Amino acid sequence: MISHIRKLSNPAGERNKRPILEVLNKYLDKSQPGKKLLEISSGVGLHAAFFAPHFPSIRFQPSEYDTSLFGSIEAYRHEANVPNLQSPIAIDISRPCTEWNNDHQINFATSAESFDYILNINMIHISPIECSQGLFWNASRLLKKGGLLITYGPYAVNGTLTPESNVQFDASLRSRNPAWGVRDTTALEKLSTANGIALKQSFDLPSNNKCLIWEKINELKDI
Ligand SMILES: C[S@@+](CC[C@H](N)C(=O)[O-])C[C@H]1O[C@@H](n2cnc3c(N)ncnc32)[C@H](O)[C@@H]1O
Repeated sequence: MISHIRKLSNPAGERNKRPILEVLNKYLDKSQPGKKLLEISSGVGLHAAFFAPHFPSIRFQPSEYDTSLFGSIEAYRHEANVPNLQSPIAIDISRPCTEWNNDHQINFATSAESFDYILNINMIHISPIECSQGLFWNASRLLKKGGLLITYGPYAVNGTLTPESNVQFDASLRSRNPAWGVRDTTALEKLSTANGIALKQSFDLPSNNKCLIWEKINELKDI
């Protein structure tokens, strides 16, 4: 039940949505109908509503852990007014998709290896490590072979976090919640490899953020 349908603002999202779109334009296939994208941690709903009109042949499914954001996600969806953008569903990415129970019944039983893309913006560093572990575990179950997991945010690389503003940001995250913090791509690659997913490309985007393209390379039976 969604009570308040009202767009919430997200200044960071307004700044990063165009640079992320440029990366999506390189990787999302517009040529074939019937492709499916699942967004994990949609926040206020700004990104899915901004991207969906650019990719009419891809069905966008937003999701959130915090269901109080559903009203805002719906408000952005109504404003976008495109048929390929679905209503939000509840997903706790730290839980295995075998246990998910949501309105559209997206879980392992109904949707194993059925998604072409999974998109996750600014969650990995602002959530406990169980969310990153769950992101790769669930992506390996829900993506088709060759499907892409696209993540965005600040990352350390090979143990080094730069510039100083990101080091300070990491310290402020950890002081707010010791379970949060900027993750290292090497540590994330350990999680991905264990789930048959490989880091394919890394793009440096404004404000010292990166967009990482991960590809599911193994069949589920081989994982
Ligand atoms: C910084 S916000 C980013 C939201 C949005 N993607 C954006 O870029 O504006 C982090 C998001 O992670 C979500 N989150 C936290 N724990 C989660 C979990 N267990 N499963 C899925 N999402 C989670 C929060 O609800 C929040 O929307």
